[in-house]
Amino acid sequence: MTQRVLTGITTTGTPHLGNYVGAIRPAIAASRRPDTESFFFLADYHALIKCDDPARVERSRMALAATWLAAGLDPERVVFYRQSDIVEIPELTWLLTCVTAKGLMNRAHAYKAATDQNQAAGEDPDFGVSMGLYSYPILMAADILMFNATQVPVGRDQVQHIEMARDIAQRFNHLFGAGKELFVHPEAVVDSKLELLPGLDGRKMSKSYDNVIPLFEGGSRGLKDAIARIVTDSRLPGEPKDPESTALSTLFDAFADADEARDFRDELRGGLGWGDAKQRLFERIEAEIGPMRAHYDELMAQPERIEEIMQQGAARARAIAAPFLARLREAVGLRPFHLQRDAEKAPKQTKQALPQFKQYREADGRFYFKLSTQDGRVLLQSRGFEEGREAGQWIGRLKREGKTALAEAPVEAGEGVSAEEIGAALASLAEAS
Ligand code: TRP
Repeated sequence: MTQRVLTGITTTGTPHLGNYVGAIRPAIAASRRPDTESFFFLADYHALIKCDDPARVERSRMALAATWLAAGLDPERVVFYRQSDIVEIPELTWLLTCVTAKGLMNRAHAYKAATDQNQAAGEDPDFGVSMGLYSYPILMAADILMFNATQVPVGRDQVQHIEMARDIAQRFNHLFGAGKELFVHPEAVVDSKLELLPGLDGRKMSKSYDNVIPLFEGGSRGLKDAIARIVTDSRLPGEPKDPESTALSTLFDAFADADEARDFRDELRGGLGWGDAKQRLFERIEAEIGPMRAHYDELMAQPERIEEIMQQGAARARAIAAPFLARLREAVGLRPFHLQRDAEKAPKQTKQALPQFKQYREADGRFYFKLSTQDGRVLLQSRGFEEGREAGQWIGRLKREGKTALAEAPVEAGEGVSAEEIGAALASLAEAS
């Protein structure tokens, strides 16, 4: 079955090696698989939640766009767009906001972390908390549900948001789906192996730890300088080193095949100096990203070229989003008036047409039930039961199991009613429930 993979990166920073190894590279590799449709986007509305520096948002979204493209994203294969170009997304956000329980948002990690911090500092719990931060998971749900993504690759900290998107989808389907699934249920995909890329100090590479190695920014010189700052112990060249005691080997693994990785570790144990090891790591990474950097620099020098690609991506995304949103608007009661009038004139096809079970008590004191059509024709007639409960249980089974229960149920067909008609009536009830 075709999978629809969707992921976004918030445009607040410059991409680093951790973003590349943990998100961008695997996403691009997955997008080349034949059974996969990929939707990758720049989460620039999300950037506004955390950042009120327009220059930074601007720089970051262009750098990220160029990074994805330079890293090999094929805009013909992948639907690649800026979130803020898809006007349907904020509109869907509102439809979802109206069915999202406030209590669900109270439990979101990002919001709770903010209130906990405020409380610890003796502040009002909501100090500095914007409505953007508070309802951020709904915007993210709209990103995902707009395109009915089945799989969402994210970091571990985002899993809760995917679960919330599922909850919200379920609630919307239940309220407005009329028995159909408007939204599919997305699943988070977390690759913990890729998440653990260490930074300069050995902790997870992250902007918040200030330990990142920039991907393209700063050129090959910048890469080399950053690698030179990776923390090692004070063992001298010739002394055996523990490959597990430094970020060097894990970083090397991320860019090498299994044989190369094993050789590197063996050489460290055999006394390879830290300086030489760093040079080897630099060369290995540069071999992969050097050519991409050249492409990146080229793109960054041609903003109109990137803009054109983003516009094309937006057009493809909106070709899917716009008709789907029209369906959703209709489902909640926001149809054009003339269509509304036409529907009111048309005979009601839905609920009214369904046959109905009725339970009743006869003069003999026993309990009965029958299944009749809307115009009163009896399809099924039960025998009498001592207990009303018994009749109720048979009705329940017939509704749930349809024909299977029919074989055992103490019922008779109504006059001139065929088995097919009864089967169809039960099936329509099961479908509507
Ligand atoms: N919130 C995500 C992050 O900070 C980015 C994001 C926004 C996203 N919308 C999304 C990721 C939809 C996956 C799907 O990492």
